[in-house]
Amino acid sequence: MSKTKTYALSALAAAGVISAACIAAHHASALAAGPDGYRARPKGSVTFARDIAPIMLDNCTSCHRQGEIAPFPLQSYEDAKKRALQLAQVTESRYMPPWHADSHGEFMDERRLTTEQIGLIKQWAEEGSPMGDPKLIPPQPQFPKGWSLGAPDIVLQPSASFRMAAEGGDVYRCFVLPTNTTEDKYVSAIEVRPGNSRIVHHVIAYLDTSGKARQLEANNKDGQPGYSVAGGIGVLPTGALGGWAPGNMPRLLPDGVGTRLPKNADVILQVHYHASGKVETDQTRFGIYLSKTPIDKRLRLMPVFAPLSIPAGDANYSTNGRFPLPFGHNVSVLEVMPHMHLLGKQMTVTADLPDKSSKTLVRVPNWDFNWQTTYEYKAPVRLPIGTVLSLNAVYDNSTGNPTNPSRPPKHVTWGEQTTDEMCIAFVWYTIDSEHITQGKPVKDMLDMLGGLGRGSLRGLRRQSSDAPPP
Ligand code: HEC
Repeated sequence: MSKTKTYALSALAAAGVISAACIAAHHASALAAGPDGYRARPKGSVTFARDIAPIMLDNCTSCHRQGEIAPFPLQSYEDAKKRALQLAQVTESRYMPPWHADSHGEFMDERRLTTEQIGLIKQWAEEGSPMGDPKLIPPQPQFPKGWSLGAPDIVLQPSASFRMAAEGGDVYRCFVLPTNTTEDKYVSAIEVRPGNSRIVHHVIAYLDTSGKARQLEANNKDGQPGYSVAGGIGVLPTGALGGWAPGNMPRLLPDGVGTRLPKNADVILQVHYHASGKVETDQTRFGIYLSKTPIDKRLRLMPVFAPLSIPAGDANYSTNGRFPLPFGHNVSVLEVMPHMHLLGKQMTVTADLPDKSSKTLVRVPNWDFNWQTTYEYKAPVRLPIGTVLSLNAVYDNSTGNPTNPSRPPKHVTWGEQTTDEMCIAFVWYTIDSEHITQGKPVKDMLDMLGGLGRGSLRGLRRQSSDAPPP
């Protein structure tokens, strides 16, 4: 088991290295005949106001608006008309909206257009993108301002702003934020509010109960808050509360389920900054929502991973890992987050059930490093004792891979740097027989990882559909 632990922890530490350059891989296809299954409307009848605006407002403006992560707004007729053919291309190729799992309907907040919607955009673009009757344009959706789940129970922030130089490489900065709690608590959601969204790329919140991160911060002499270490966070974390990527919206865990926050733990907020061309400052805030109901089940983490030794030039390197469910429990899987770096091509996580059937937990056929999505199931996936989780991943280490960071390609193995690789799927689950409220907690070997939170590096979701569970 010790080998398992080592692997898992190094992966966690390295989860902070999940982003380097923003590489926009292009998959736009040429316009051809309409998408299969689309029945074209009478010529000239598809209009922006009636047909396209509702699609755009519902599926694009969450990111394509002022101050958000997409490079231009898609809010008005002018915005859409200007790029009509491009909109048709990127939606037909399913490059936009960004969504990388290929299942249908299983996950919360799937960002997916229907064939009908894709066909409408294409027909509209090809017929000269007419406006139609502007009175039919629906109102702009309302997006939350401030904390999207309301005021958090605990708000932490670095003691001062961090100053980022105009030029130079990316910076990973760790800020040590004491929680000063006097007893163990359970967390139901976290929210990250970047101070300066021009430079904040990703944030991961680790936990430290050893005091070693405080030491690193105290020893830092560069006159700025926090500390920087090469790769990772410089300490073995006690756990983590989760992560954040642009566009992410927090969600509360179901009632009775929580991530453990050990008493007096420090949050190590690792912020990945990239230079904007101007001197910038940032003071990112971190909000913790404590569980409001008694916790019956702890959210736990099972890392599923596979060995890696990817020859230089290999365009189709495949690897497999298999893990029995921990220690004979029936479990319910709530979320899964595949993680690879820039050579990743595909990942499939499968549950092989004791009755010899198998169930795909998630399949990502076109891995995109920029979207480290946590896939949350609409209904937890029940897996019985005797289930084995298996993972298959494929990598492209050839020059034909536009995101390959090494030119010429080099032999690549596991490691923290973005030029190294990882092959891991984080599987968050609860144990069915655990009932803390009835005095029946379950301990397991992975308790050392018990505080490990949800990687909420999921994609964006709209507030309107963000109602917490009743
Ligand atoms: C979750 C956030 C998100 C959503 C939702 C989203 N986009 Fe984007 N979009 C981005 C980001 C980020 C980029 C820039 C990086 C990239 O190209 O991947 C982008 C880029 C684009 C581009 C430029 C692509 C290129 O080749 O340069 C187009 C066109 C586009 N989006 C259209 C759409 C349309 C149409 C929708 C809705 C149907 C949509 N997007 C929904 C985040 C989003």
